[in-house]
Amino acid sequence: MKGVILAGGKATRLRPLTYVTNKHLLPIYNKPMIYYPLESMVRAGIKDVLMITGPDHAGHFLNLLRSGGDFRLKLAYEIQDEAGGLSQAVSLARSFADNEKILVILGDNIFTHDLSGAVADFEKQGRGAKIFAKPMNNAQQYGVIEIDKSGKVISIEEKPKQPKSNLVQTGIYMYDDQVFDFIDQLKPSTRGELEITDLNNLYLKQGTLTCEVMSGWWVDAGTSFAELLRANNQVAEEIKKQEK
Ligand code: DAU
Repeated sequence: MKGVILAGGKATRLRPLTYVTNKHLLPIYNKPMIYYPLESMVRAGIKDVLMITGPDHAGHFLNLLRSGGDFRLKLAYEIQDEAGGLSQAVSLARSFADNEKILVILGDNIFTHDLSGAVADFEKQGRGAKIFAKPMNNAQQYGVIEIDKSGKVISIEEKPKQPKSNLVQTGIYMYDDQVFDFIDQLKPSTRGELEITDLNNLYLKQGTLTCEVMSGWWVDAGTSFAELLRANNQVAEEIKKQEK
């Protein structure tokens, strides 16, 4: 399985911090934000990772991460010319994926859950996609998942005003090789983006979408200044725990 990290976008919610730099290069405690999803890939056992970012800061990523050797993985780079949405960014991974399954992690998602078991299971399974969920208080800021008693996904809605549950879709997704044909079927949302939720709903319609609730803590550090601060504090606590 190959890895794809999305590190483009405009990061308007973190302005003025993001006027002249890319959100994923901002510090989270003692490292740039982008280190955390990369380390999650390493923990998951992924060796080949494609980094997708916009043209403005691509050189900074290259200077910082180079070949990926420091992380014991092989890095490739792809440019997303315009921030056309998460699914549009994933579509740029078509030739990199080369018919293999992919693990996609959003560059601003920081978490402790170990994905290696799920990667091994997903590699063995037939066609389909998997999403990872976490209960959150302010679910309306995220994609919201409704599940039945057996844990089967009933619906996913992007940032609904009235969330049907407190279970949110995190920025971790596993896809089989149908993903690129599904993205070709997507239409831009009202905000003009190809949404990841619309993509996941195509797998849901096909009956091949599964969902795993994650253990540990999870932060989407790009949501607000408060979440950015929470990410810093969670990482600081984690380091303190390890030093004890
Ligand atoms: O983090 C989980 C949430 O991520 C999910 O609950 C939502 O369903 C999903 O849509 C997404 O919502 P966000 O509002 O957090 O998406 P954001 O615009 O912050 O973009 C997420 C990451 O993807 C971020 O690291 C930047 C990158 N990105 C974003 C866009 C729009 C790209 O690489 N290209 C893009 O065009």
